[in-house]
Amino acid sequence: MDVLHRLKAICFILTIALPVLLRASDLALIPQPTRIENRVGVLTLKGPITVACASRRSGAGAAAELLCSAMSADLGEPASRITQQARATFVLSIRPGTGGDESYQLDITPHQARLAATTPAGLFYGVQTLRQLLFQVRDSKELPCLSIQDQPRFPWRGMHLDVSRHFFPVAFIKRYLDALALHKLNVFHWHLTDDHGWRVEIKRYPRLTSVGAWREPKDGNDWIYVPERSMDPAKRTYGGFYAQDDVREVVRYATARHIRVIPEIDLPAHSMAALDAYPELSCSGRPFVPPKVVNEQTEFTDPFCAGNEATFTFLEGVLTEVMTLFPDRDIHLGADEVRKTSWKACPKCQARLHGLGLKDEEALQGWFMQRLARFLATHHRRAVGWDEMAQGGLPKGSMMMHWRSWLGDAAVIEAVRAGHDVVRTSMDDLYFSPLETSKPGVAAREGLPAQLTRILHYQPVPAALSKAEARHIKGVEGCIWTEDVATESRAMKTLLPALAPLAEVAWGGAGSRDPVIFERHLRPHLRFLEACGLEHAPLPEIGHAQTNGR
Ligand code: ACM
Ligand code: ZN
Repeated sequence: MDVLHRLKAICFILTIALPVLLRASDLALIPQPTRIENRVGVLTLKGPITVACASRRSGAGAAAELLCSAMSADLGEPASRITQQARATFVLSIRPGTGGDESYQLDITPHQARLAATTPAGLFYGVQTLRQLLFQVRDSKELPCLSIQDQPRFPWRGMHLDVSRHFFPVAFIKRYLDALALHKLNVFHWHLTDDHGWRVEIKRYPRLTSVGAWREPKDGNDWIYVPERSMDPAKRTYGGFYAQDDVREVVRYATARHIRVIPEIDLPAHSMAALDAYPELSCSGRPFVPPKVVNEQTEFTDPFCAGNEATFTFLEGVLTEVMTLFPDRDIHLGADEVRKTSWKACPKCQARLHGLGLKDEEALQGWFMQRLARFLATHHRRAVGWDEMAQGGLPKGSMMMHWRSWLGDAAVIEAVRAGHDVVRTSMDDLYFSPLETSKPGVAAREGLPAQLTRILHYQPVPAALSKAEARHIKGVEGCIWTEDVATESRAMKTLLPALAPLAEVAWGGAGSRDPVIFERHLRPHLRFLEACGLEHAPLPEIGHAQTNGR
């Protein structure tokens, strides 16, 4: 290249490309798109704003309706549907072959904005991006011209919620799903059962909810006693459950937002609520008595009896109803934190273990989970379990959620190499922790900046995996356990804005791990969440240097 050409190239970069690059980084999109290019000019959104569909697919119509309501809510201008594409301000189309299943392409020119996707889900994500853009130009009403090509890194972009320690009503679950949708998450993992409450109506076993969904308030355990909610301390009145129609309503609401709902029925332990209701299914046959001293040996609760056939009749009955309520292929069966002492002492469990020629109680748990996974498989469902499920041998075709990050990646690598899909729910990295605690004088695990940083920096794919193996890492999921999250307000503030860095990790757009860009995008994003009526934890005044501290 001669000097003249070089000078011309530099002038080009300074006059055209540089301003373009600067403007691209000004747009506060969370999660960041895969590729964003600014173009010259703006699309003015004054006067009649119109939306047309270039395809008759119902998904395009739903996205157009959503965009029209976004125009009023996010931009403050009304919009209407028209049929003439050439005259419309926004044109939405579903075109086969545009990109991956969840991808979209957005082109904004001075005359028109065109949003195209292969599927309704892609259009939905494109509208989510547009919502953030519209909100940012609500004063000027000028959308910058640009081109965005976007698709997620991972197919599993999940968020979990424990509704057992504390029950959250359907209206709250819908707000939670709204927050997931705004961040382009697509899986809601609903932890419906645990020791402290059974939350889903099962018609053939009514005591699960008439007994198992309620508990006595007691002092001393924040997950039992909730000062914010008054009740008669002498009665078993604290709790709640989802009737089957409530579950259907949540699934319908989530599906409209392209969110899969994965129920968790936690087995064989974390089942004290169920065993309170049906004590004949425990090894002792009597209700479980909580230990007086809680320590590492006693903190987990006794499981269902593995030697009693009635346990399996019961659980298959429960899962049969669960399958009618939840259309998704995946059903989470728990498998975490199983204390095996009652199995060791139980003649029925020991007879089962020896009858099957199993080595120990760990193998008995493996057999327990494999049996239920086979039951699901005969109904074309896939079992999902926490990583303890691997200790007795992962059931064929099952998926593992890896949460015990302190044990390293060995279980992940082994599961992947055995052909299993894995979702990363690393406790150290992806568990969201409440920023306030209910215990006087007890500090929260960390402050918000440290939490945002640890989530943002998480690397889900172990370096030891080959490219082909890495395809089994299906994605990431944030978890909210509610031992110390008793109220809706605290739950929302635990979710937001921690969901923002999770979305960056899950969607994985260009530059999504850059803490400086993230911090710059976060404040406008918080204003957007507020405008959407979503409560969030307050962000302290921080400089980037402080966000790196843990
Ligand atoms: C878990 O945190 N027990 C999965
Ligand atoms: Zn037993």
